[in-house]
Amino acid sequence: MQLVGKTVEATYNAMKERLKEFVPDVELRYKAELAWRIEQLKKEKNAVILGHNYMEPALYHTVPDFTGDSLELSRKAATTDKDIIVFCGVRFMAETAKILSPDKTVLIPSPKAGCSLAESITAKDVRSLKSRFPGVPVVTYVNTYAEVKAETDICCTSSNAAKVVASLDSDRVIFLPDEYLAQNVARETGKSIIFPTKDPVKSLKKGNGVDYQLIGWNGRCEVHEQFTVEDIVNVRKQFPDTIVLAHPECRPEVVEAADFSGSTTAMIRYVRESGAKRYLLLTECSMGDNIIAENPEKEMLRLCSIRCPHMNEITLEDTLEALEKTQYVVDVPEEIRLRAKKAVDRMLEIG
Ligand code: 13P
Ligand code: SF4
Repeated sequence: MQLVGKTVEATYNAMKERLKEFVPDVELRYKAELAWRIEQLKKEKNAVILGHNYMEPALYHTVPDFTGDSLELSRKAATTDKDIIVFCGVRFMAETAKILSPDKTVLIPSPKAGCSLAESITAKDVRSLKSRFPGVPVVTYVNTYAEVKAETDICCTSSNAAKVVASLDSDRVIFLPDEYLAQNVARETGKSIIFPTKDPVKSLKKGNGVDYQLIGWNGRCEVHEQFTVEDIVNVRKQFPDTIVLAHPECRPEVVEAADFSGSTTAMIRYVRESGAKRYLLLTECSMGDNIIAENPEKEMLRLCSIRCPHMNEITLEDTLEALEKTQYVVDVPEEIRLRAKKAVDRMLEIG
C-alpha cells in the first residue's frame, strides 16, 4: 500500500507507477515531495497515520500506515503504540480514536472536516428520546459526536449495524441518527420502523394496531442521499453490464436496486474479488480512483459531481502542517469519554 520510498525521487517513481492515470505528472512531483516529508516527520515524532478509504488518491496511497473503513480504523486507533495519531478522516472518527486511546495525542489535519450525520443530533435529543421510550436500548452510528455516543448503549458502523441490532435482547431498539441506514437495517433484519420526528404521535402508541421494532431519527448523509434509482437506471441503460455498489447510507430504494451494499471496505473487497469488468460506485468519488489504482484491469463509473466536502478538506498539505505544528488536537472531556467508550467498546466486542 505505502508508496513512500527512501528518497523523494523513489517516492515519485512509485507514485507514478500506480497513479499516473489519475494525477498529472506535475502534481505527482509536488505531492511526492509532500508525502516524503510527511514520512520523515512521522518517524521523527513517533506518529501513526490512519487514512479513511475516502482520502484522495495521492494521500491514500502514500502516507497512511493503515487505511480502512470506520470500524477498521477504530480498531487500529485502539491498539497503536505510537505517541501521536494523525487521523486523515473526519472529526467524529478522530474523536473515536481519542475515546479509545486517551493517552495519545490525536490530530485532525483540518478543523473543518465535519459530517452532516454527526451534526443532525445532539445529546439532548437522545435524552429526550430515552425519556419518551424508557428502557429501550439506544444504538448510535459512529458518525456522531462523543456527547451523543455518551448517551447511548452501543455504537455501530456501516459494516456491523444489523449485527449490533440483532445482538440486543430487546423487542424495540432506538437506532440513530441516519434515517436511511436505519431503514436499510430494518429491511435486512425484517423489523418495522417508525420516526418520532415525522410520524404522528398517535401511531407511536402501542395497542393502536400499529407496532414497531426500530425507532429512527431524521439524520442524513448529505452525499449519499443524493443518489437516486434513476441514476442506476440511466447508467444500466448505457452500460448494461455494470455492477452497482451502494453504501448503506443511500436511500433504501437505491440500496434495493443496487447489486451490492456494504461499508467502504466491503465495497473495495467486492470489486477486488469479483470477476466483473465494470462498476458504478454510489459513494464518495475519490474511492473510485483508489480502487482503480489497485485494480487497473477494471472500469469504474462514478458520479463525481457528488462529493463529501468534509473528507475533501483533508490534504497532504494539511497533514504535513498537522505534524509540523502538532495541530489540530482533538480532545474529549473525560466524563464524556468514559461513557462514550462503553458504547464503542461494546461494539468492538461484537465485531
Ligand atoms: P464506512 O464506515 O463505511 O467507511 O463509512 C464512513 C462514512 O462516513 C461513509 O460516508
Ligand atoms: Fe459524513 Fe456523508 Fe461525508 Fe461520510 S460521506 S463523512 S457520512 S457527510
